[in-house]
Amino acid sequence: MSDTRIALVTGGNRGLGRATALALAEDGVDVVLTYRANRAEADDVVTELEKAGVRAAALQLDVGEVGSFPAFAEELRGLLRGTFDRDRLDHLVHNGGHAALTRLGATTVEDVDRLYAVHFKGPYFLTQALADLIADGGSIVTLSSGLSRFAGDGWAIYGSLKAGVDQLTRYLATELGPRGIRVNAVAPGPIATDFGGGTMRDDEGARTHMASLAALGRIGEPDDIGPLIATVLSDRARWVTGQRLEASGGTLL
Ligand SMILES: NC(=O)c1ccc[n+]([C@@H]2O[C@H](COP(=O)([O-])OP(=O)(O)OC[C@H]3O[C@@H](n4cnc5c(N)ncnc54)[C@H](OP(=O)(O)O)[C@@H]3O)[C@@H](O)[C@H]2O)c1
Repeated sequence: MSDTRIALVTGGNRGLGRATALALAEDGVDVVLTYRANRAEADDVVTELEKAGVRAAALQLDVGEVGSFPAFAEELRGLLRGTFDRDRLDHLVHNGGHAALTRLGATTVEDVDRLYAVHFKGPYFLTQALADLIADGGSIVTLSSGLSRFAGDGWAIYGSLKAGVDQLTRYLATELGPRGIRVNAVAPGPIATDFGGGTMRDDEGARTHMASLAALGRIGEPDDIGPLIATVLSDRARWVTGQRLEASGGTLL
């Protein structure tokens, strides 16, 4: 049986998930990443990870489809045994998710239901479905947001659900603590990815405005987040659990 650590990163084909997978590889951690739709991108990340010297594989998963989780857990179990020579995962990163603006007067029930399904219900039931597959002493990171602490224009439902993720993280840390499993939330501020139509990467006006609100005076990059998540997952953070770690360059302090 291999003693190399292994992590599952949802939404690992681009953005923060990809940066997390690459940072884990730098730490010598094998990675199973999931993609929702972009299979070719996921395959490219697998190749990058293998070039970095770790074992990697990609599986399809929509975290908003909880009915698919039992079959996903079985597929993952088979992959771990067949490809990684392991029975268990060491780390789980609940990263995959989308943005949707919701303003009073223009919000649809479908937008709210989908945000809830992907950002709250999905991570909870995926944790439940995979709990037996996570090794005692392992660790989990949930993705929160700066928007769970401060109010951004149009982000009421998303930000409130991320505040729910902060509290869910504390409950999961409490429930899984007896097994030595740590659970922490990493809360990025605005980061230049495809998220929200790529506004924080491509819209100079929005970038300048958000940079002016940050103590460090710029927008974050995926590489500001991936290594932090890898560190929080690692034994270097072994006495940290149930915490929300904001990585926003000091936005709206
Ligand atoms: N970027 C920011 O400013 C920021 C700030 C705070 C928190 N976050 C959080 O960080 C996480 C990642 O954001 P990002 O900036 O990396 O976004 P991104 O660049 O848009 O990438 C999103 C990733 O999530 C996957 N995904 C989307 N919907 C999914 C679903 N229903 N089920 C499973 N996977 C899904 C995508 O897969 P496909 O490509 O296959 O669709 C993709 O891999 C999200 O949870 C987001 O809420 C982002």
